[in-house]
Amino acid sequence: MTAGPRRSIPATGRPWEDLKAELEAAKKDDFSWREGRMALYFYYLNEEVKRVQQEAYLSYWTENAMGQRAFPSMKKLEDEVIAMGLDLLHAPPEATATFTSGGTESILLAIKTARDWARATKGITEPNMVLPRTAHPAFDRAAEYFGVRAIRVPTTRNDFRADVAAMAERIDRDTILLLGSAPNYPFGVFDPIREIAALAEERGLWMHVDACVGGFLAPFVRRLGYDIPDFDFVIPGVTSISADLHKYGYAPKGASLMLLRDRALQQHQTFTFSGWERGTYASNTVQGTRAGGAVAAAWAVMNYLGQDGYTHWARVIMDTVETLTRGINAIPGLAVLEPHELCIFVYRSTDPALDIGLVAEAMTRRDWFVGRQAEPPGIHLHLNPVHAETAELYLADLAASVAEVREAGARARAAQPAGQTY
Ligand SMILES: Cc1ncc(COP(=O)(O)O)c(C=O)c1O
Repeated sequence: MTAGPRRSIPATGRPWEDLKAELEAAKKDDFSWREGRMALYFYYLNEEVKRVQQEAYLSYWTENAMGQRAFPSMKKLEDEVIAMGLDLLHAPPEATATFTSGGTESILLAIKTARDWARATKGITEPNMVLPRTAHPAFDRAAEYFGVRAIRVPTTRNDFRADVAAMAERIDRDTILLLGSAPNYPFGVFDPIREIAALAEERGLWMHVDACVGGFLAPFVRRLGYDIPDFDFVIPGVTSISADLHKYGYAPKGASLMLLRDRALQQHQTFTFSGWERGTYASNTVQGTRAGGAVAAAWAVMNYLGQDGYTHWARVIMDTVETLTRGINAIPGLAVLEPHELCIFVYRSTDPALDIGLVAEAMTRRDWFVGRQAEPPGIHLHLNPVHAETAELYLADLAASVAEVREAGARARAAQPAGQTY
């Protein structure tokens, strides 16, 4: 992030037509999400759904979702979104949820709520939480913001899942929470949520499931017959879940749910303040003012797609995973890391003469925006439906990139003076 050029607000305004043209022109060097040339940062189905998202957002573009006394319709829409999320994730009748701006806010709220619950019910003042190393950085952000020590535990080496025995060893008197992801972001595998939840129950700990990626996708992939493990409130020890509407709920950005098994826990979440002239201020979110458009658009997309729509798009994603993984494994020197269970996977080089970093650079030169995996070095793909349209092109460019890297390597070796070993 750079500070950018110094400038002031223009002394006089400019016509919207000029500004609109400037905005369009400003995008010219950006990667195209519409053309499926990147597999991170966005979710795109088709022009029809885009219209629903945009028009629904615009219908509430300036309403403040915090002002539910003024905008009772906002409360109704939000309650319906929450009810649909609770139902999908098998919440018991006493459960509740909060509409947040995204996965990070849902996670921040879960950790803050768990911290205040542990302080109130157990008197823990120097809390820690035990996480698999694959947990999203939002947990360390929460740790930093809320004074909770994050203890990251390496996952099992062969399947990238939380090592429950190793997590158990790190629990001490100050531990308040255990985490499992459904699935994790680095490898796209589900942690053993049942086992972690059983451990949490046995030790009287809060158990959070990070289903930011899987919450609105895994239930529909399971309907297609895939073997998706239980990960939600169907497991008794699960206390809270983060599930993003702006990922596979296909809502526009600014939409997630933080779900609580028991609404009685919400007393540890709510912020209230009365020590000023305007009376009592109370809020369950990190944000104050909240975008009404985000709520309306999430509501509209859920109702527009319906369960049939979500199931259809889940099939498109899983078919694309199949096409891409088969094609990548067919390129000599490349292999997809196994296991992977949903929409995320990583591939790496199995040939010491083929540098995956150079393959990534060659793909970038072919106008693909590449997500790089640091450990082990690889390329990370996080698919959404638009990638069905570009899978074959991706594979052709990948084969060409690998050939280019191999040829360049062969030329460099031929040019190396005899006897030079480095
Ligand atoms: C597993 C997981 N958790 C949490 C997050 C954070 O979500 P957001 O970027 O919406 O804040 C992400 C984002 O990719 C994620 O993959």
